[in-house]
Amino acid sequence: MSFDRTSFSRHIESLSAKWARALDEHGFDAALVPAGTNSYYFADDQSPPFRPNPHFARWVPEPLTEDAVLLVCPGVTPKLFFYQPDDFWYVPPSVPPWTDGVFDVEVYQESENQIEGIVAATRALTNIAYVGPDTELANNLVITTDDIGPFIDQLDYGRSFKTEFEIINMKGATEIGVRGHLAAHRAFLSGASEFDIHMAYLDASKQTESELPYPNIIALNEHAGTLHYQHYDRATPKRVHSFLIDAGGKFNGYHSDITRTYSATPGDDFDSLINALDEKQQALIGDIGLGLSYLDLHERMHHDVAELLVAFGFVTCSAEAAFDQRITDAFFPHGLGHLLGLQTHDVGGQLTTHQAESTSPSDRFPNLRLNRQIEANQVFTVEPGIYFIPMLIDTVENPTDINRDRVQSFVPFGGIRIEDNILATQDGHENLTRPVFDEALSR
Ligand code: GLY
Ligand code: MN
Ligand code: MN
Repeated sequence: MSFDRTSFSRHIESLSAKWARALDEHGFDAALVPAGTNSYYFADDQSPPFRPNPHFARWVPEPLTEDAVLLVCPGVTPKLFFYQPDDFWYVPPSVPPWTDGVFDVEVYQESENQIEGIVAATRALTNIAYVGPDTELANNLVITTDDIGPFIDQLDYGRSFKTEFEIINMKGATEIGVRGHLAAHRAFLSGASEFDIHMAYLDASKQTESELPYPNIIALNEHAGTLHYQHYDRATPKRVHSFLIDAGGKFNGYHSDITRTYSATPGDDFDSLINALDEKQQALIGDIGLGLSYLDLHERMHHDVAELLVAFGFVTCSAEAAFDQRITDAFFPHGLGHLLGLQTHDVGGQLTTHQAESTSPSDRFPNLRLNRQIEANQVFTVEPGIYFIPMLIDTVENPTDINRDRVQSFVPFGGIRIEDNILATQDGHENLTRPVFDEALSR
């Protein structure tokens, strides 16, 4: 796996055309896009790992872009003001070879000179859109930061349509994640603790913690019932029931976001429930095609979950009643999924048109992160879950329909989530995740 320069040059051509159109439509003559500067923890000289502004990262993929600034001016080669201080405390960023012939690169050792270079390059421009976080840089330049929201919404809307280059990178991120998942599963089978499973994941995926797209969720037993469980117990529990792993990979800045759940006792009821939910997830993915509403898919999965609640004896009412009474909301409390790309929760899930108008959220599922119709080249997750979370089950309005003892017997398992990453294509969809597991497991 490496950096695909051929598709990258087409990616830049496509971005150039799209940004030129958006700038024109919003009355700007150029955009200035800083990668961003790292900040320090309060009252400390240590920083969190640097994460670039995603609008910048779409032009100049990670890593090592801290403090660089890009000037996008329609009709002109994009100009990259690269900051490369002489430093013996840290290794400074170095200009990646794939910038050759794509960007007009200027390298600066001093930030004052970098700002002077940007001032000089932008002097003749009158209305520059500033797409970034550093107001200090913005204050040094005469640029527009007001009324930029609709322009940024349009960029965010466009980010949901992945180019060939982006899809290649997301496939790379998937391979990295799947390597980690398989090693983590092996560690689980050998009796490892959450901490040791986490380490097995990092080792096999060859990622440091700060390179992960999001913190690994490695949950044994009831910990799987905390949706974003964030600790790594050093000891294996005396009795292991279940294992949920939500962990991804990052490649040239692009993310994968993958979840699998395993029973410690193949063939038990929890294992059957995993398989039943997996079948529902695969059937729903199998039907994904252009023009469908993601909200409808989310609702369909609630009906599927209702059926499973009946089939496995968690409720005594009908599946319709479990859906209508919102019992399914207590067992499946998160959205079916979200857009994926340079961010794990990629933005733009509520923006429905090229003019980036927002959809109205659904009354029942206002927090669903993706509320759009499916269109070609979107990448999104499909991640149904069934959890046994006492604090949610306790909120169900009509508790007489719940078989408390049956539910209680599943609390030690925590819950199930199964998450694949899906590319919508002209003729349907491609599951980016499954074939990579299948191929690795068949070796
Ligand atoms: N890993 C976070 C999520 O699945 O949304
Ligand atoms: Mn996930
Ligand atoms: Mn996800």
